[in-house]
Amino acid sequence: MQPSPQPVVAPLTRAAIFLTLTVNPGDANRPVIRSLCGDLAALLRAVGFRDLEGNLSCIMGFGSDVWDGLFGLTRPAELRKFQEIRSGGRHAVSTPGDLFFHIRAKRMDLCFELEAQIMARLGGAVSAQDEVHGFRYFDDRDLIGFVDGTENPTGQAAIDATVIGDEDAGFAGGSYVIVQKYLHDLAGWNALPTEAQERIIGRTKLSDIELDDAIKPTSAHNALTTIVEGGREVKILRDNMPFGHAAQREFGTFFIGYSRSPRTIEQMLENMFIGRPPGNYDKLLDFSRAVTGNLFFVPSATFMESVAGD
Ligand code: HEM
Repeated sequence: MQPSPQPVVAPLTRAAIFLTLTVNPGDANRPVIRSLCGDLAALLRAVGFRDLEGNLSCIMGFGSDVWDGLFGLTRPAELRKFQEIRSGGRHAVSTPGDLFFHIRAKRMDLCFELEAQIMARLGGAVSAQDEVHGFRYFDDRDLIGFVDGTENPTGQAAIDATVIGDEDAGFAGGSYVIVQKYLHDLAGWNALPTEAQERIIGRTKLSDIELDDAIKPTSAHNALTTIVEGGREVKILRDNMPFGHAAQREFGTFFIGYSRSPRTIEQMLENMFIGRPPGNYDKLLDFSRAVTGNLFFVPSATFMESVAGD
């Protein structure tokens, strides 16, 4: 029987929490984390049952540095640290992160309650590195005003894009996830004419239609993030969320991309930050700065349930 995946392909929700933690030193922390792995599904059922229509889901991922200590020496084939990229003044930073939780629901209170329960279980075993509460904005737009997520694969195509199969049979049912927290220079972006913004993204702003190839620059965001291998487009699954603190003039997009191989997203990032060809980079980055960057492996739900505390 094929292992069943964690709910990577969950429907888009109104609310989400992105939680990045590091594991504190000390042998006593291993059983604490392992026992949460085994119990996460039950915790999710308990909180989710308070509103079954709230669509609560949770994904747990693991960074390269903690894998061996938690689960032994058999590693997912492509689990590695997020590699930083520097080019021009652009910098895709690589920041600390051992454990990652992507909590989604129609209601923020469900997300928050599950996060609180998870943190109560983990206690002193972990330190928080980053916590972002994301919200769905008008018409699924990001804070730069464009509809975000249109070209996501759906149904079987989403599963094919994200769930590992025979290529790493020991970890079938798993996925990789790359996350980056971006802060926008919204004043600078909003000062651009709409047509200039549209050429940067590669779609129209109001109607969200892809620009014709005759006018779409090769540096458009949706051109540089299109990866074709052997004549076929290799898709990823994104569930970006806006977040911010308006009074502090913080306006952000939390980028989250799931894929079957991290190489696809790494290639997209190289195209965006360095350019394809080099120098032909993504002008969205003139108005967006990455302040975190992590790569995690998301094991199958079957794997998670098999993990026991020591
Ligand atoms: C500042 C952060 C980002 C923002 C605001 C943003 C926004 C957008 C928007 C508005 C679109 C067009 C609509 C759609 O198809 O979803 C798009 C497409 C896309 N983005 Fe991003 N994005 C960001 C970062 C990234 C990153 C870091 C990657 C990958 C490394 C990425 C990968 C993609 C892909 C694959 C598409 C679809 C391309 C296509 O097939 O047409 N994005 N993004």
